[in-house]
Amino acid sequence: MQLINVALRERGYPVYVGSNALDLVAELIPTNAQRVAIITQEAIPWTVHSDRKELTIHINNSESAKSLTVVEDICRKLAIAGFTRADVLLAVGGGVVTDVAGFVAAVYHRGVRFINVATTLLGQVDAAIGGKTGVNLLEGKNLVGAFWQPTAVVCDTDTLATLPPREYRSGLGEVAKYHFLGSVPEAQAANAELPTADEAVVAACIQIKADVVAADEREGNKRAVLNYGHTLAHAIETAGHYNLRHGEAVAVGIAYAAEVANQLGRINAERLAAHYQVLTAYGLPTKLPEGLDSKKLLALFERDKKAIDGLTMVLDGPNGVETVTAVDKAVLAEALNKLR
Ligand code: GLY
Repeated sequence: MQLINVALRERGYPVYVGSNALDLVAELIPTNAQRVAIITQEAIPWTVHSDRKELTIHINNSESAKSLTVVEDICRKLAIAGFTRADVLLAVGGGVVTDVAGFVAAVYHRGVRFINVATTLLGQVDAAIGGKTGVNLLEGKNLVGAFWQPTAVVCDTDTLATLPPREYRSGLGEVAKYHFLGSVPEAQAANAELPTADEAVVAACIQIKADVVAADEREGNKRAVLNYGHTLAHAIETAGHYNLRHGEAVAVGIAYAAEVANQLGRINAERLAAHYQVLTAYGLPTKLPEGLDSKKLLALFERDKKAIDGLTMVLDGPNGVETVTAVDKAVLAEALNKLR
């Protein structure tokens, strides 16, 4: 078991990573909480127990659960059950669950405590850490949300063994991202299909994320590097139903960011090839889904939350991955063609 601290002073918290970490949950519940609400999905085969009065709330199994309607529904259930600001929420599941439950925790009674129990690879290496919570609008992903830190995060790596392969691969898209932000051990090939992200790999990704979040909790600048590959990924996800999971879309987005950086002369051909090598080793896609119109994607880039000053991208370069503003539209369009 590894313990990683997200060093945010009074908002800091521990992240437990390893086999049997689920056993720790009961003792992480604050002693003064009288009630515990477990927010989860029917499809999640894991649960946790406490010695407090429990309420279990199931949300939809899909991204559609990330809506203000679901947030209202959960808040009403909490109110009916008499939850107060002293009580605690447990988010048990992947990124959809931790994003929604975290946002409920941020707004119910103007803020209650919550613990993330991440049971997917994507949740463990990204969504459950760092306090970004929120839901989608029809106009785009995660457009309504809050920074609200959990009081603890539990990442039981045993839960990864039961993930459906697509879900697992989606997590590998975020793992691939960390290879360009810091040092991650190579995931071992478990079988011909997918490499295994074991405790060492998951912990290395979490450590990178914890360090970035500790340096820039509210995305003043540095935290934007965690969105490496996400500009195109979010545009693909918003553009329509292209049957790509989030991490798969991030993988295409990482290939795209590398192509843009290469065209701008920020990285050489060798570094560009290194991007494709990591993505391919994880069995991730690097091409745009058929039928996606470049004009539509470019228009969606402008709606990106990073786009404070014209078209902003997170790009690799001589100083590592960083935010680059006012990227030329012609370069962005040409790099899209490289992914076809
Ligand atoms: N997923 C990006 C971040 O937490 O900042």
